[in-house]
Amino acid sequence: MILGIETSCDETAAAVVTAGGEIRANVVSSQAELHAAYGGVVPEIASRRHLELIVPVVREALERAGTTLDEIDSVAVTVGPGLIGALLVGVAAAKAIAWSRGLPLTGVNHLHGHVASLYLCPLGLEPPFTCLLASGGHTLLLDVADRTWEGVVVRGRTLDDAAGEAFDKGARLLGLSYPGGAEIDRLSREGDPAAYDFPVARVPGLDFSFSGLKTALLYAVRDLPPAQLEARRADLAASYQRAIVRALVERVEAAGNGRVAIVGGVAANSELRAALPDATAAPLPLCTDNAAMIASAARYTAPVPAGEYLALDAFASTP
Ligand code: KG4
Ligand code: ZN
Repeated sequence: MILGIETSCDETAAAVVTAGGEIRANVVSSQAELHAAYGGVVPEIASRRHLELIVPVVREALERAGTTLDEIDSVAVTVGPGLIGALLVGVAAAKAIAWSRGLPLTGVNHLHGHVASLYLCPLGLEPPFTCLLASGGHTLLLDVADRTWEGVVVRGRTLDDAAGEAFDKGARLLGLSYPGGAEIDRLSREGDPAAYDFPVARVPGLDFSFSGLKTALLYAVRDLPPAQLEARRADLAASYQRAIVRALVERVEAAGNGRVAIVGGVAANSELRAALPDATAAPLPLCTDNAAMIASAARYTAPVPAGEYLALDAFASTP
């Protein structure tokens, strides 16, 4: 059994996953409410909260799995990309647990983790496939040849904001609470997606761009008197969501006609899931950050043997 730990952003998460990809426990403690007052994640607050939560969250994962550290065979932890201070809390905790038990430790790339959410039971997707990874921090179009991170090739990426970031910034402009993706998703159901003609950026190749769309929403909101904004909020949300989903779907379709999978927080979006009916979508609880996906990725990553991981470090971004 693998104990997975994830602290790259504002979710403190621990999971117990078997070598065969069965989830025995998947505990996620979201700090979203703590950061909502600031309209986004405050890195220093995130680190401090991870420090408070990491031990109880690991304990709860073991408890829910009906197991103890005696039965854990290896530890897996997100080493990056993410907020460096937040990552270091998870890495230090994972090292301490692994060291005290003489266990191997696997450092996992967070993006590999999102892709590996597709490899857990009962889905157990087999490569090759094209993968849209859309989250708060990343928007990537990937060619996945096998289950290792080395088997993943980036074909397209965002030139500015990530899709989830576009949702969150749009939500803020509309006066919705953080994180805004799920809020826009909900409000859009009451609105007319054709009410506003928001632009879909035309960038060459398979890259994405969302900053122009955000500006278009800013102008639309700015031109409305407050009372009007209230009345048009659902229409604005639905039109904005439609533009983001169209941009994502266009690129997926341009990537070719092979099998497609969608992962990451934005893969939870109901309109995106409906717009790609033939795609394999990560199960809803595994779209947003969690530790089960990290333990899953560890199954396809070489572990560092017991005692040799003191030099294992976190990294904020991929060069
Ligand atoms: O994967 P994730 O939990 O964290 C990162 O690795 O960034 O993704 C979080 C992002 C946030 O931007 C959030 O607004 C977005 O996923 N999100 C959604 C939905 N649920 C979460 N975006 C659109 N529709 C949703 N239903
Ligand atoms: Zn993520």
